[in-house]
Amino acid sequence: MVIRFLTILFFIQTYVLAQGVNPLQIPDTLIGPFFNLSIDESTRQFFPGPLTQTKAFNGNSFLGPTLIIRRGWNVEVTVNNQLADTTTIHWHGLHVSAHTDGGPHSPILPQQQWNPDFTCLDKASTYWYHPHFHGKTAKHTLEGAAGIIIVRDVEESNLNLPRKYGVDDFPVIVQSLEFGPDNQIKTSGLQDSIVLVNGILKPFLQVPAQKVRLRLLNASNARNFNIGLPGNAGFFLIGTDGGLLGRPLPVTRVKLAPGERAEVVVDFTGQQGSSISLKSYGSEIPVGTQGGPLPLMPAGTPPMDSPLNGVDFEVLELRVGAMTSNPSGNLPDSLAAQTRIPESLATDERNLRFTPVVPGSYGGPFLLNDSTFKMERIDLRIPLNAVEIWNIHNQTPVAHPFHLHGFSFYILDRYGALVGPEEQGRRDMVLVYPNEQIRIISRFSNFADSTTPFMYHCHLLTHEDEGMMGQFVVMPLVSSQNQINQSDFSVFPNPFSESIDIQNSDYPEGFSVFNNMGKLVFSSDSKTESIETKIWPSGIYWMISSKGKRQKLIKFQ
Ligand code: C2O
Ligand code: CU
Ligand code: CU
Repeated sequence: MVIRFLTILFFIQTYVLAQGVNPLQIPDTLIGPFFNLSIDESTRQFFPGPLTQTKAFNGNSFLGPTLIIRRGWNVEVTVNNQLADTTTIHWHGLHVSAHTDGGPHSPILPQQQWNPDFTCLDKASTYWYHPHFHGKTAKHTLEGAAGIIIVRDVEESNLNLPRKYGVDDFPVIVQSLEFGPDNQIKTSGLQDSIVLVNGILKPFLQVPAQKVRLRLLNASNARNFNIGLPGNAGFFLIGTDGGLLGRPLPVTRVKLAPGERAEVVVDFTGQQGSSISLKSYGSEIPVGTQGGPLPLMPAGTPPMDSPLNGVDFEVLELRVGAMTSNPSGNLPDSLAAQTRIPESLATDERNLRFTPVVPGSYGGPFLLNDSTFKMERIDLRIPLNAVEIWNIHNQTPVAHPFHLHGFSFYILDRYGALVGPEEQGRRDMVLVYPNEQIRIISRFSNFADSTTPFMYHCHLLTHEDEGMMGQFVVMPLVSSQNQINQSDFSVFPNPFSESIDIQNSDYPEGFSVFNNMGKLVFSSDSKTESIETKIWPSGIYWMISSKGKRQKLIKFQ
């Protein structure tokens, strides 16, 4: 009798807290280097009653496949626009040229195709893709046109980490959405009350009783998530936007601003049969940061309240099942080599201010350096290979997630204080809190193009669409006075075949490798690199540092 009573209590405890009803969908994978994407109008039955109009890729009714790319691959994509609307597809976080980046200057008209190709130069991490047609980014993205990109590389592959997709390595695309009474997705408001994971309402995921990697992406319009486990249970943050951290970081919370990604490892060893709520602890988000409690609004502000603001809610129920036959072992002590750019390399400094159009306004629109976005106006001209510090000053009472296209950056400091280890990695997003001043540092290498601009913007999609965005071009170097024919790299072996190890003695300058036709095939900010070269055609390659030092490399079959 007593035992039965206890059993019942146990179930009440675990199942009342967890709310999962629907199995989480895991997006299919497409493995590169060649991708065919078709962006389509679709519908999905989210609620009883009318179907919801959605946008999705490749026959899905919401979101798109996970694209898997290896660093060094020559990626070729065909995007078919089957929408009734012009759109673009942007590779968020990837270091690619301005004309392949998929920003607002690469429109794909209805029934037209776009064929970007690029070499994958990025470190292993979780990136994503979404539309970026100016004024329609929120609508297209929030209606479902988004997907994950997983980049793999040698460094990550050599680590003992969970990486079996859909087995112990899961994409977790978190979105909070506002639905109208007609069941349609509203992309203008901030009264989001529905949380979806991978497009699923009230989801649960069966995970094995071992170490599991979750690739978190916040693909919401404006909501910040503060991800954690009940009882402050610990887990590990292993990667942020642009790559793995130096070492696994024990945490109890991971902040996820719109556009941001984080890779975490949760250990479910010995927990078979239990049910655990992955939650967002909104009650801990500060006032003024979307997702936290509402600030006191000036009279006349349109309503911004959402039942999710300032409260804790479940994002995903994790049901622990059986262990797989060969689970990944202990987490490695160190993960990826960190290539933070030293401040001493900075060649220039710029100031960027966020201000509201109406002083004191919480609701936007907001400006960057007093301007609103204009397609025809280039805001910044940056010389190729410049290392720049951007001082970003948020002079508004709300937090804005700042995003830079094409080039990763590092956060130098917040209010003059060094950031914690969770923010020291390679990034393309940074949340700037109300009235805060932060500094970031970035190197603008490889992709000069004086006519096609890259974007920088607030990743709150409605702010971006309202014009909280600017554009920069990377200017080609006028002379080649730096092209000293001098070897400053130690390269082994050379000639090479399957792989090549490089010591960059010009470090912390970066280096790039070009083929004999001048096409970029590799780029790095690291001191040492081990490059997979199996797929490189044989021939002559040139390694060039950002200072212009060069060395000839020979590849044989
Ligand atoms: Cu995720 Cu400019 O975009
Ligand atoms: Cu982007
Ligand atoms: Cu903003």
